[in-house]
Amino acid sequence: MSRFLSPRRAALIPYTPGEQPRMSGLIKLNTNESPYPPSPRVVEAITQESLAGLRLYSDIQAEGLTRAIAERYGLEQDQVLAGNGSDEILSFAFQAFGERGVAFPDITYGFYAVWAALYGCPARVVPLAEDFTVPLPAFMSNRETIFLANPNAPTGIALPSEAVRGLLDANPDQVVVVDEAYVDFGAQSVVPLIRAYENLLVVQTFSKSRQLAGARLGFAMGSKALIDDLRRIKFSFNPYNVNSLTQRVGEAAMRDEAYFAKCCALIAETRERTAAALRALGFDVLPSRANFLFAAPRFMEGGEYMRALKERNILVRHFDGKRTRDYVRITIGTQAQMDELVRVTKELMT
Ligand SMILES: Cc1ncc(COP(=O)(O)O)c(C=O)c1O
Repeated sequence: MSRFLSPRRAALIPYTPGEQPRMSGLIKLNTNESPYPPSPRVVEAITQESLAGLRLYSDIQAEGLTRAIAERYGLEQDQVLAGNGSDEILSFAFQAFGERGVAFPDITYGFYAVWAALYGCPARVVPLAEDFTVPLPAFMSNRETIFLANPNAPTGIALPSEAVRGLLDANPDQVVVVDEAYVDFGAQSVVPLIRAYENLLVVQTFSKSRQLAGARLGFAMGSKALIDDLRRIKFSFNPYNVNSLTQRVGEAAMRDEAYFAKCCALIAETRERTAAALRALGFDVLPSRANFLFAAPRFMEGGEYMRALKERNILVRHFDGKRTRDYVRITIGTQAQMDELVRVTKELMT
């Protein structure tokens, strides 16, 4: 830290992303990326012409991309805003709606607490119930902007959309932000509720179910007024936030419904098989609707299991909190990768 850093920033505890080693032969199950390549339509979208277009600034409205998203979700184009990953969209939401207070669970996406601190949002952190579910009554205060990942991370547990509707009804004067980064692997999306609730903001990403984590693309969907608020932040921060190649590949991915559906189904199938295999080995596995499992090995502590796997070239994520310590979060890879994880785990148990 230099002596020039603003004192308020010196106190920040930044988010710690999962490791991104570039080693060959590694089975990388630590950051919830897709094990499958982007859609063939994405590859076709990178043409000589699109590369030559990099000479110009990108389209500040991301016309083609937001049209594709709006059509896919049955919304008007001005109900959609694209961002540099859903991280950027969520950070806009903290800036736009967080000043009077935010509420989120204690065990959830770690970035919420970081943004609350960065933007000076008073935060009420709500402990998850004993079984890691979201205690809904604690979010019925109608006092703070609510941030909920659904399915939650790292637990993978999903709320049904009727539960989110209950929160929206109980908080008519607050924005409810539903982070649906993992919704496409079998949970219920609340996008259909947008028409009825002006206070609902849904955030999704291309990083997980559309195989584009490296392109950095996420989007918000909501009432025109809420999207307009986010746009104020974007135009006060970085108008060209989504580069032109990412806009093109995002549009191509959004329009390839068949490939998207096939990959999501494969991952959900592999998740269920892996969960069954781990349960058979005595693991405590939470019921996941996401592209990862939160699982406690029981035969050793979570951190120890994570390190033992790493020595054998398998990366998973461990969160060293009081209630998360026994668990690891395992991204769902290909079936062959998950078979290898189970094989290595059996070896560790003998
Ligand atoms: C719950 C949740 N929300 C948002 C994100 C951010 O995703 P991205 O910025 O890649 O869209 C992540 C990333 O892991 C996440 O787990």
